Amino acid sequence: MASETDIETAAVDLRRRLARKLEKDGRLRSPEWRAAVEAVPRHRFIPRFYREGHAPGVTTWEPVTSETVGKEEWLRLVYTDETWMTQFDGRDIDWADPKPISNAAPTSSSTLPSLVVRMLEDLDVQDGMNVLEIGTGTGYSTALMCHRLGSESVTSIETDEGVARRAREALTECGHSPHLLVGDGRVGHPDGAPYDRLIATCGFRSIPPAWLEQVRPGGVILTTLRGWMRSLGLVKLIVTGDGASGWFSEDDPSFMIARQQEPPESLGMVPGPDDGTVRRAARGPEVLTSSGSAFMAQLAAPDARFFSMAVDGGTVSTFLLDSVTDSFAVLAPTDGGWQVRQGGPRRLWDAVESAVATWEEYGSPNTAAFGVTVSRDQQVVWLGNPNGPQWPLPS
Ligand SMILES: C[S@@+](CC[C@H](N)C(=O)[O-])C[C@H]1O[C@@H](n2cnc3c(N)ncnc32)[C@H](O)[C@@H]1O
Repeated sequence: MASETDIETAAVDLRRRLARKLEKDGRLRSPEWRAAVEAVPRHRFIPRFYREGHAPGVTTWEPVTSETVGKEEWLRLVYTDETWMTQFDGRDIDWADPKPISNAAPTSSSTLPSLVVRMLEDLDVQDGMNVLEIGTGTGYSTALMCHRLGSESVTSIETDEGVARRAREALTECGHSPHLLVGDGRVGHPDGAPYDRLIATCGFRSIPPAWLEQVRPGGVILTTLRGWMRSLGLVKLIVTGDGASGWFSEDDPSFMIARQQEPPESLGMVPGPDDGTVRRAARGPEVLTSSGSAFMAQLAAPDARFFSMAVDGGTVSTFLLDSVTDSFAVLAPTDGGWQVRQGGPRRLWDAVESAVATWEEYGSPNTAAFGVTVSRDQQVVWLGNPNGPQWPLPS
């Protein structure tokens, strides 16, 4: 593959293959989005990126460019159904001499095409609709929307200046000129409102109130919600006159959390050995890591995070700490079961056990049994129906 023309010719074929695969997997369902996937050159949006390495132990990321892996392999990777990382810890990469990266958190990426396309299909757009995207990232999903709706109907907000600049360059190179803004997507862009659709490709702890004012009644908000322990999943809300409501999807795709909502650096105060009150626990720490019960734990303890460590060089305890209210729950093995020591204004483990028990009473359903209602004064996740058991989202 020697010339630019060779790359473009090969890319056309790779895009067709990708579109066929996404269609076969049921992700790509309409001819309009298929045409967009076949037309938008993902390689212009990720000329350089990072992939996860295979070294055991610590997670390491390796640079992928046409120089590091060869043009053919780079292009093949671009058109696989994978998420490719483009930024870590909010810092730009020195592409003149890219090095492997470890001990860093991804802060921007090109999301895997099957998820991008599936969200675009779920958005139910029609010709002439006005769409607001939060999290421009590389600009690939923005370009798909520009192809489908026309640049004038697309507004996209990216919080990171460097990321936004590169997306603008790639979009311009591909002939698209959507309204691009640098800022916090939580405030939206009132000048472009009302929007028929809002799609977010980063995760939020709750629905930003400005979105409800800028999306017209009957319009759709499609976003992932996430907490500090885990993602809650993708939710599709229909905006009403004074709020919004809708259901989670069956699977629980996860996006990086919005920059402004990253958890505080400190996990919180580790309690002393005699702090709190002790009782026998009905559940052990495994509920924090098994998928269904962990979803419930996230709902029940929205400001908490956990870690496990050996206490006094002996048994391993799990610490669930809420740095917002300085509440804690410490789980330690005892007599073939668990004991929990709790303190602070929130009884964290009582709340987790109660939420998990409720979920089990309902038959341990997946996320599709849950929904969200947003009103002016509160936001809740409910189970079964809007009047079912409820857990508030952090405000
Ligand atoms: C997963 S990437 C977006 C992927 C992108 N849509 C694509 O197709 O390449 C998430 C992006 O959201 C951005 N972001 C994080 N918090 C944000 C916020 N509050 N407002 C706008 N963008 C935000 C990140 O900087 C990152 O670039």
